[in-house]
Amino acid sequence: MFRYHAASRVRKRSRPVEAGVPRLKEVKFEDVRVYLVERKMGRSRRSFLTQLATSKGFIVEDVLSDKVTHVVSEDSPAASLWKWLKECAPLDLPNMHVLDISWFTDSMREGRPVAVETRYLIQDIEPTSAEGSTPSPVSQYACQRRTTTENKNTIFTDAFEVLAENYEFNEIDGPCLAFRRAASVLKSLPCAVRCLGETQDLPCLGEHTKAVMEEVLQCGRSFEVEKLLSDERYQTLKLFTSVFGIGPKTADKWYRRGLRSFSDILADRSIHLNQMQQSGFLHYGDISRAVSKAEARSLRNIIDGAARAITPAAILALTGGFRRGKEFGHDVDFIVTTPELGSEESLLPKIIDGLKKQGILLYCDYQASTFNVAMLPSRRFEAMDHFAKCFLIMRLEGSRVEGGLNKAEGDGRGWRAVRVDLVSPPMDHYAFALLGWTGSRQFERDLRRFARGKRGMLLDNHALYDKTKNEFLAAETEEDIFAHLGLEYIEPWQRNA
Ligand code: CTP
Ligand code: MN
Ligand code: MN
Repeated sequence: MFRYHAASRVRKRSRPVEAGVPRLKEVKFEDVRVYLVERKMGRSRRSFLTQLATSKGFIVEDVLSDKVTHVVSEDSPAASLWKWLKECAPLDLPNMHVLDISWFTDSMREGRPVAVETRYLIQDIEPTSAEGSTPSPVSQYACQRRTTTENKNTIFTDAFEVLAENYEFNEIDGPCLAFRRAASVLKSLPCAVRCLGETQDLPCLGEHTKAVMEEVLQCGRSFEVEKLLSDERYQTLKLFTSVFGIGPKTADKWYRRGLRSFSDILADRSIHLNQMQQSGFLHYGDISRAVSKAEARSLRNIIDGAARAITPAAILALTGGFRRGKEFGHDVDFIVTTPELGSEESLLPKIIDGLKKQGILLYCDYQASTFNVAMLPSRRFEAMDHFAKCFLIMRLEGSRVEGGLNKAEGDGRGWRAVRVDLVSPPMDHYAFALLGWTGSRQFERDLRRFARGKRGMLLDNHALYDKTKNEFLAAETEEDIFAHLGLEYIEPWQRNA
């Protein structure tokens, strides 16, 4: 029950609640906007608490909008509360404290909003598959699992990937993420799943995913997946989005216009392809073929040379899939910077210039830095980062690659085109950029989800922000970031979630 000491003189127990009559009181805490969750709490108690808080100079919002900074709930199980909150989207949940009523009562007692400590936070826990079962030994967070490149469950994860992709094409986020999470859990397992019973203690596997698994176990394939693979819309969107520069929206627009093949697109005079898409078509054969480790190594030497020609102090690090130990990738990702703060700004344009002069730059989309420390922490959860970066297509000579190029059969050329990404963060944000660009995407998503839900912190490619202490946590290495998050360190080659 609600206890209230210091100001009990203003509250007469017997007085009925004056429901819905907002009292105009002086606002003392402009930055705090409280929302009281009515479910479980009940209307009359909510109304009473609202008046109490208002009388103490708090702003209490009637509606759950993204103005709200503090969501307060009483007696709601965390899982159902979060489910409800997520359904109330579009909301800026990461920037909102989700708090137990004890934060509210303490604040009332103190007559001011007390600091949000971890004990007040209601954490985002997913419901477990079996009610009341002991916690699974496998974490629901990819950042608490070790996932190498060796996937023993490809028969399931390939099927899930097709389904997830189709939901993505249709912009249905929930099931898309559910299938990606399920695939990620299976990828972390040391053995193949041989019967459905073995999945009993695994997190993130819902009814739908289990039904697909059962079919695959019984028939060797999923009919839902088979149907999609021969579905015209799925096939066409898959084909169109395989071109560099064509996203699901454009692909869908063209599909709805009746276009079905590349020649349909190229023959359509009403379509204007941008530079990126033109290059995507021009080098389609090359850049849709996997890049090998040896090719990545060779590109590393080339870019290292270009960076060192500008400053000997340049720092170059391989990130992305190759840093995670993958044998093949769709591109090669690098971080390039200098120890001298600020001079990284001009580094990337100079490297690009150097590559151009060597005649090995086939395409370049350079995006200057829009990074501004004052903008942190980022309000968008999965937004692109603001560092200077470029998306390139480079010409790679076979003579520079140990063991030769990964070429198509019958290709007589001595070179191939390769996609390369470069990102250039200032040195004091290097560790965050490295962690963010190493991936995998699912690993990153879960790091952020863990930080927010379990620690009350915001993580992105730029920084780590502790919402409970209202401060940034500095880091020089990835290990520092894991330590701030209270996570065991996961090596890059264990992040193939
Ligand atoms: N990334 C990012 N911001 C971007 C692009 C990429 O933070 N604008 C991150 C992604 O989250 C990902 C990593 O950079 O974790 C690498 O992205 P990508 O090259 O697309 O994927 P890889 O994991 O390297 O896979 P592949 O081998 O297929 O390239
Ligand atoms: Mn990559
Ligand atoms: Mn990339």
